[in-house]
Amino acid sequence: MKFFVDTADVAAIAELNDLGMVDGVTTNPSLILKSGRDILEVTKEICGIVSGPVSAEVVALKADEMIAEGRKLAEIAPNIAVKVPLTWDGLKTCKTLSDDGFMVNVTLCFSANQALLAAKAGATFISPFIGRLDDINLDGLELIQDIRTVYDNYSFKTQILAASIRTANHVSQCALIGADVMTAPPAVIKGLASHVLTDKGLEQFMADWAKTGQKII
Ligand code: G3P
Repeated sequence: MKFFVDTADVAAIAELNDLGMVDGVTTNPSLILKSGRDILEVTKEICGIVSGPVSAEVVALKADEMIAEGRKLAEIAPNIAVKVPLTWDGLKTCKTLSDDGFMVNVTLCFSANQALLAAKAGATFISPFIGRLDDINLDGLELIQDIRTVYDNYSFKTQILAASIRTANHVSQCALIGADVMTAPPAVIKGLASHVLTDKGLEQFMADWAKTGQKII
């Protein structure tokens, strides 16, 4: 499973990228706001750090304006994936930009039917939001499983990009289900290294090592 990092925080992206943890980046208008940066500038900087797909989201709501914004975002770098919302105009934009050879990430997906439409419109990525379904007492991981089944049934090439990931359990379950990609905030990715038994075991090893009175260097 590929790891995308869900942030426009350049320092956080660079840190994870240096460790080989970043296969791509996803941003959205809320993350651009959080960064306090200009969208074109910060996206260009991110594309200079990460060689994989970097999603940059359009903000127009009508297809012709979305297409124009998408083309402008795609000019930033060859690894831009234009992100469009899962609306009828977003699907029109997806079809046009995909036919023109651009990567398109269709976002705000909350049903298998929406994912089916995105695949038929030529999406490179579909972004189902797990955490936001869990927030309303639905099962976000069940949606990932349903989309996996639908796409496999018909050999769709659209990659499932599990988004709105909040927990380590979301990550491991997505990997077990077979999501192609997961995107998570830096803190969630770093948190995957934590385990209470790792901490406990290390504490014991350090205590025993101190008793040996030895040094390695
Ligand atoms: O990639 C989508 C993500 O940014 C949404 O996450 O936690 O705001 O639902 P969240």
